[in-house]
Amino acid sequence: MPTTLNFVLGTRPEIIKLSPVIRACQRRDVSFSLTHTGQHYSDELDSVFFEQLDLPIPDHNLAVGSGSHGRQTGEMITEIESVLQSTRPEVVLVQGDTNSVLAGTIAATKMDGIEVGHVEAGLRSFDRDMPEEINRRLADHAADYLFPPTETSRDQLLQEGLPEEWITVTGNTIVDAVQQNVEIAHEESRVLSELELDEEFALLTAHRAENVDNRDRFRNLLNSVSKAATEHDLSVVYPIHPRAAKRLSEFGINIPEGIKLVDPQEFLDFLLLEDKARIVFTDSGGVQEESCILQTPCITLRDNTERPETVEVGANRVVGVQPDDVARAVREMLTIERNWENPFGDGTAAEQILDAIENE
Ligand code: UD1
Ligand code: UDP
Repeated sequence: MPTTLNFVLGTRPEIIKLSPVIRACQRRDVSFSLTHTGQHYSDELDSVFFEQLDLPIPDHNLAVGSGSHGRQTGEMITEIESVLQSTRPEVVLVQGDTNSVLAGTIAATKMDGIEVGHVEAGLRSFDRDMPEEINRRLADHAADYLFPPTETSRDQLLQEGLPEEWITVTGNTIVDAVQQNVEIAHEESRVLSELELDEEFALLTAHRAENVDNRDRFRNLLNSVSKAATEHDLSVVYPIHPRAAKRLSEFGINIPEGIKLVDPQEFLDFLLLEDKARIVFTDSGGVQEESCILQTPCITLRDNTERPETVEVGANRVVGVQPDDVARAVREMLTIERNWENPFGDGTAAEQILDAIENE
């Protein structure tokens, strides 16, 4: 394949979900470079994943860091444009819905001779208050290649008037990443003994702005999870994202009974936690998908999801943060049969993405 690719990435989920595509490039000898925006920079959200997933060190690190949406996105656009001017790739690949995705898409799409591919296209929460919803809509409408994970997301793109010939349904690259790593996690991870967890635990992640940036909602979320888990004698382990950690201390929230805060986990440890947990509580997009793939029931602590497939197959309940709703969902999900189908493909998404680009 003569095409040269540039991956623009910047946050934990992008590193994880693009890792199978980067690896597929290495296998096929596709010429590529990596541009890291620096949106995530703490080791625990960034370099640990490059090391554990055996990814090459980024060719360009823009070190943009944290900031308001405008400053962060604007700085990224300026810096990415200058990288693209000097490297002139034929295709820029972005994944998901973060500010790094928006910046990579805008910078690349206006440059002559550069096309943009959006991996995980067509997801919609229909909630325009979420920054991620704005980012994913704009990225889809500016990209040249659209890689929706499912038929549902493909239909959404068509409904919004995007041309059929730009769209390839590939499944989600997270299936590739889980398949490539779950056995290694079982062999190598010591996380259960390190965190002193027995069989009866639940896993919690919560970091989205709409949950943790609001004091009452964040407190309510934690109390609801604690109450529901205590009812079933489940301990709860909460690997805490820095955004949530910052808000906890700013708001002076005390962690309720039964919830154990731990540092963000490396990917293999986190996969094992997801696999072994009786139930997962989350507001993360990637965690909804992974728990569905791993046959672990999921309770989504949000008012909507852009992953309706997880709900349709019976793997996920979207319940918000009110105590009665969370408790009811836990009762239901602890007794369901774990035999739903995986709606996110067969683990060949990365190969299909490269095939589609090559076939152009
Ligand atoms: C971003 C994405 C979100 C995604 C999440 C993945 C946007 C708008 N949001 O949210 O969709 O789910 O990444 O984890 O792009 N911080 C650190 N170290 C870091 C990075 C951030 O301490 O390496 C702290 C800073 O206090 C920062 C805060 O986290 O202000 C928020 O970081 P930011 O990148 O703005 O958004 P995320 O919450 O990480
Ligand atoms: N993850 C991880 N360690 C953690 C929490 C999450 O490795 O402590 C991984 C998880 O396996 C998933 C990804 O991070 O692949 C999800 O990222 P995040 O929840 O930050 O973002 P979102 O998916 O909500 O955009």
